[in-house]
Amino acid sequence: MKKKIVIANWKMNHDFYETTSFLRNLLKFFFEKKINNKKKVIIAPSFPFLHISNQILQGSSLNLAAQNICQMEKGSYTGEVSASMLKSIGIHKVILGHSERRKYFYETNDILLKKIKIALKYGFHIIFCIGETALEREKNEQFLIVKKQLEETVFHCSLEEISDLIMAYEPIWAIGTGKTASPEEAQTMHRYIRSLFIDKYGETISKKMSILYGGSINDLNARNLFSQEDIDGGLVGNSSLEIEKFLKIVQS
Ligand code: PGA
Repeated sequence: MKKKIVIANWKMNHDFYETTSFLRNLLKFFFEKKINNKKKVIIAPSFPFLHISNQILQGSSLNLAAQNICQMEKGSYTGEVSASMLKSIGIHKVILGHSERRKYFYETNDILLKKIKIALKYGFHIIFCIGETALEREKNEQFLIVKKQLEETVFHCSLEEISDLIMAYEPIWAIGTGKTASPEEAQTMHRYIRSLFIDKYGETISKKMSILYGGSINDLNARNLFSQEDIDGGLVGNSSLEIEKFLKIVQS
């Protein structure tokens, strides 16, 4: 059976103290409750705290991811963080394509493809986000939109390159809004996304691929979403900031 994956995307939240105390409490909980190994938990704190977070989680089953990387390898790019810098502090996972990166930082599919290629070059596991806006769903264009997002980004990768890819379907209208896709709506889209991977890369790899749902997951709706056949876990924003809520989601 595939492991369910829960990712805490903290975005630009939690300072040094909040980050370190959250992680210490999380570790304590995992140790005491002996959370079973059918789940994989990944935390994505802000860049400045990745190093200390890695030290805290060393030797545990909890994983870390960066929230972004620069599409350039190195050089005069003020304010950017490279794949090799992250690798040098032991970070091997990265979230790419998040709708907030697309919207506020103008990351196009072209830029995202460059980020994917750099991340792969440095051996990163990529969590790649796609999803449609409210308007696109109103016009019933959601399937076209996610297909285009895939065709212009990850579908430029070889079978080998996508072997560790984690996909996240995050309808933009559901992110941070309190509106969640219904389990059926999400399942329909997840099945569709998987079918696109099957057409492109074949059944074996596509059936093994984890496709996470993201968008206003909370402790009340997580179980229903996660029980859908093609939903392999969740990418959680707001509800991952409080440890009690987040733990309830993990236990769902
Ligand atoms: P949300 O964010 O859970 O706050 O909706 C999800 C995300 O942006 O990944």
